[in-house]
Amino acid sequence: MKKISVELLKVMKSKGDPIACTTAYDFSFASITESVGIEVLLVGDSLGMVIQGHLTTLPVTLDDMIYHCKCVSRACEKTLVIADLPFGTFQSSPQKAFESAVRLLGEGGAHVVKVEGGRIMRDTVSFLVDRGIPVCGHLGLMPQSVNMLDGFRAQGRTDEEADRLRQDAVALDKAGMSLLVLEAIPAILAEEVTQLVSLPTIGIGAGPGTDGQVLVLYDLLGIYPRRSPKFSKNFLQDAESIPEALKAYAFAVRRKEFPGPEHYF
Ligand code: KIV
Repeated sequence: MKKISVELLKVMKSKGDPIACTTAYDFSFASITESVGIEVLLVGDSLGMVIQGHLTTLPVTLDDMIYHCKCVSRACEKTLVIADLPFGTFQSSPQKAFESAVRLLGEGGAHVVKVEGGRIMRDTVSFLVDRGIPVCGHLGLMPQSVNMLDGFRAQGRTDEEADRLRQDAVALDKAGMSLLVLEAIPAILAEEVTQLVSLPTIGIGAGPGTDGQVLVLYDLLGIYPRRSPKFSKNFLQDAESIPEALKAYAFAVRRKEFPGPEHYF
């Protein structure tokens, strides 16, 4: 595998080469994902749920994220590492987001920071990008806004919600964002957004029409003891080992066999 950069992911989008991504939180799993050629790792604040056992991602701190980023980035010579800016560390101002992002890149070794939010994040995105920090967005089901939603539910199902999401994606793309996660939205909307924007989109529960796919690693391996989302798939079930399961996932993404119709709406 070549060293992955945000520029290379844009080239993959232009060629129609699907991008495989999983979350990772530690050195050993990150080493396996790199060895099977998964291009992008997300140190997600989902670690609050799958590692720490919280019911939401909200209690995760910047220090928690930095600790896990350090563990993951030590394994990543070629993989692009994205790290979530956790709840409360970026929303109040572009300056605050910059200070938090500097720690994720400088101390944690991440290459890209991820922010949840629509147009309201536009100024923050350009502030970070102008200062040399690539940004990944996250639209649709935004877990940090769970208290504004009726739980972890699909989004973008009404015309109004779909229209807002399209406009958010275009605004963030124009602000210089490098990548965009689309979570739990109708497949047709995710495909439309993917065609509207120049940046690569990475779907989770958003159908096969995005430029790449991401799954939470512990859902992909079926080892999260609470309920996993309906759109995820346990790849360990039919594999003989964890590396084989991750290979099967990457292969299924590349061949556009995952997600199948039972994993999206
Ligand atoms: O935190 C996370 O793992 C995420 C993915 C669900 C995309 O944001």
